[in-house]
Amino acid sequence: KFPGLALTPPMGWNSWNKFACNVDERLIREIADAMVTSGMRDAGYSYINIDDCWHGERDSLGFIHPDPQRFPSGMKALADYVHSKGLKLGLYSDAGSMTCGGRPGSRGYEFQDALSYASWGVDYLKYDWCNTEGLKAEGAYKTMAAALKKAGRPIVLSICEWGTDTPWQWAASVGHLWRTTGDIFNCFDCIEDHGSWKSWGVMQILDKQEGLRKYAGPGHWNDPDMLEIGNGKLTPGEDRAHFSMWAMIAAPLIAGNDLRNMTGETISVLTNHDVIRVNQDSLGIQGFKYSVKDSVETWFKPLKGGDWAVCFLNRGKQEARVNFDWDGERVTDDLSGAQLDVSRQEYKLKNLWTGKISGSTRRRLNTIVPSHDILMFRMSAK
Ligand code: GLA
Repeated sequence: KFPGLALTPPMGWNSWNKFACNVDERLIREIADAMVTSGMRDAGYSYINIDDCWHGERDSLGFIHPDPQRFPSGMKALADYVHSKGLKLGLYSDAGSMTCGGRPGSRGYEFQDALSYASWGVDYLKYDWCNTEGLKAEGAYKTMAAALKKAGRPIVLSICEWGTDTPWQWAASVGHLWRTTGDIFNCFDCIEDHGSWKSWGVMQILDKQEGLRKYAGPGHWNDPDMLEIGNGKLTPGEDRAHFSMWAMIAAPLIAGNDLRNMTGETISVLTNHDVIRVNQDSLGIQGFKYSVKDSVETWFKPLKGGDWAVCFLNRGKQEARVNFDWDGERVTDDLSGAQLDVSRQEYKLKNLWTGKISGSTRRRLNTIVPSHDILMFRMSAK
């Protein structure tokens, strides 16, 4: 893979969750514009990723072209436009003969496609796993990684085989992120059965990250799929919980909503600077679940310079009381060895959703978390 990329989890937007196959160059330009005017670019988002269905056909020499009706100006012009906004362009392909949406896949054309992407100025490739009969994931992704490297342009490789072939065990040197699960579904706590496959609510996806934190780090991330914030199904509390938890587990922050039409609430969640800072922390340590008490999970994430992030996630249908006595807890990160020692060191607590300093570790935290909501603090040494 191309070295030196995605040293913090990638941030951007992807067309799939909201638009599925309904993509064209006008949409992508408008999304790029909105990324800037909404403040998301300045908050750290940079990739504008076109998912499935941008493809037209291969020509007689085998070169892939975008759908001429949907992308009449071509991909190079679109990449130029996106770059002129200070953003980056991502595309989607598939390791098999066809994409999941039935468009031409890259199987047998890997080096040629990588050359096309590089010549258009593409910066990110999401590489899917439909129609791959007879292929082994590790080998197939290594082929595309080699092709991209050969093409010479720094392109992030996003591995999307849904965790089927334990990518965390082999993908760190192949791509920059790998999906750990099937697709996210736009609900907080549900499983959607499509017959031959299932998609997963925000909480279900979160549970599937168990045991994977040791595989993540700068340049190689677990990918629990894209955000559903702003897509009309989650409550404000659920939006906060979704965003906070993706920050805690050092997940890529890839918005999946219509950036041209956002409520103030959606913008304020997606651009919460303090929460993004937790996600983008340069140590790149994926947070961990510390304890579970009734419906509340407590999560910690060690941060650069001795700070910590802590979340109290209420998964229950009722509000819950959090009564956390810092002195009585022994928080240790068995990966990095970091230890939270409140007897030697007092930490002040900043509530990252109100922006207020709310006391310190000298006092027990005793408060209510509403149903399907979260409390998130940054702890800094006083
Ligand atoms: C798969 C992927 C999704 C999306 C679709 C496109 O389901 O997991 O994220 O890319 O294909 O068809």
